[in-house]
Amino acid sequence: MQSLVIYFSKAGQNYVNGEIKSLEVGNTEVVALKIAQLTNAQVFKVETIKDYPDDYRECCKVAQIEKSNDIHPDLKNYLSDISNYGIIYIGYPIWCGSFPMPLVSLLERLDFNDKIIKPFVTHEGSKQANSINDLNELCKGATIMDALVIKGSDVLNTDDIISNWINVSGENE
Ligand SMILES: Cc1cc2nc3c(=O)[nH]c(=O)nc-3n(C[C@H](O)[C@H](O)[C@H](O)COP(=O)(O)O)c2cc1C
Repeated sequence: MQSLVIYFSKAGQNYVNGEIKSLEVGNTEVVALKIAQLTNAQVFKVETIKDYPDDYRECCKVAQIEKSNDIHPDLKNYLSDISNYGIIYIGYPIWCGSFPMPLVSLLERLDFNDKIIKPFVTHEGSKQANSINDLNELCKGATIMDALVIKGSDVLNTDDIISNWINVSGENE
């Protein structure tokens, strides 16, 4: 059965090793594309209709408001059916202690019964924070495997870690 990589990632300003830097490609996207390449998975990028502010602090404000008010932002595209996929890789940056709300907009529509989810997370210090608990709540019926947790500022040096995680968790067996 084919695998699917679902991810959210925001290029542009971000907090990297204590400084604000502008990323040409988002950290989670780097990992997502690497996983897709190694597993031959299909890829679905979660994109909101309304862009988040490029400015890091403004973006944090918007993200916090969305989280506090349980806002599920509208997306450019949705997936309706994941029944053809066995393993679903789900990737996101930690925003305000969990995954960004656009991921909720997508995942709440999908049937995860009997699916295997392999989460991959990038962060700048909080590790997976509360996101795995939240994923369990959102994706009822799925088996959630050990997450791949990578500090955003390390993503370009993690090829071995990514391929080991894929192999350990069974994709190539
Ligand atoms: C709005 C916002 C909120 C964030 N909140 C956290 C956080 O709570 N904990 C943390 O460790 N990193 C936080 N970060 C840093 C990101 O998780 C980290 O830089 C990640 O690698 C970004 O991935 P991306 O480039 O794929 O979007 C936040 C970044 C943004 C833009």
